[in-house]
Amino acid sequence: MNVEECISKRKSIRTYKPEKISQELLEKILQAGILSPSAKNQQPWKYIVVSEEIKNQIAEELTKNIGHPNPTSRAISECSHLILVYNTQEEYFSHMSIGASIENMLLTATSYGLGSLWIGYIRKITDYVNSLTNEENELISAIALGYPNEEPPARPRKDFSEVVSYLK
Ligand SMILES: Cc1cc2nc3c(=O)[nH]c(=O)nc-3n(C[C@H](O)[C@H](O)[C@H](O)COP(=O)(O)O)c2cc1C
Repeated sequence: MNVEECISKRKSIRTYKPEKISQELLEKILQAGILSPSAKNQQPWKYIVVSEEIKNQIAEELTKNIGHPNPTSRAISECSHLILVYNTQEEYFSHMSIGASIENMLLTATSYGLGSLWIGYIRKITDYVNSLTNEENELISAIALGYPNEEPPARPRKDFSEVVSYLK
C-alpha cells in the first residue's frame, strides 16, 4: 500500500477483534513514530505500551470519568495494544512534532491492515494514568491498535474549496 492509499484507507476504529498484534508489527509501528520529523530534531516523544491489566484499568477509569459506556473506552478495552504518548520537553514545537509521530504510526498501522484510534480523551484522566505509569511528563494522547472489527464509512471532510485557497 503506498502512502496515498494508507492516507485514504485510514479510519478511526473503535471496535477490535480479540487477536493480538505481534511484537514485530508493534515495533514496526513504534519505529515509524521514531522516524518522524521533529522541530530541531528534538524528538520530544516517549511511548509507553501498557499491559493488558493497565489497559483495562484505563478503560474503566475513562468510562467512570465520562459517566457512561462510550466508544473510546470500548476501543481501549478491546484493542490489542494501547500506546501512551508523552511529551518529554518544554519546547514551543513539541506538540506539533508529537502529532506528526502519532500520524506516522497510524498510517503504518493501516499499511499492515491494522485499525487504530487516536485518543485525545485520555488527557481527561491524566492524573490517574500517570499514577499507573509513574510519569511526570505531559500525557499528550494514546493510540489504540488492533485488528478492526468494523468497517465504518469514511467520515465526511470539508470541501476542498472551503479549506484551500490560492493567494494571487
Ligand atoms: C487529536 C485527536 C484526538 C482524538 N481523540 C479521540 C478520542 O479521544 N476518542 C475517539 O473516539 N476519537 C478520537 N479522535 C478521532 C477523531 O474523532 C476522528 O479522527 C475524526 O472523527 C475523523 O474520523 P476518521 O479518523 O475516521 O477519519 C481523535 C482525533 C484526533 C486527531
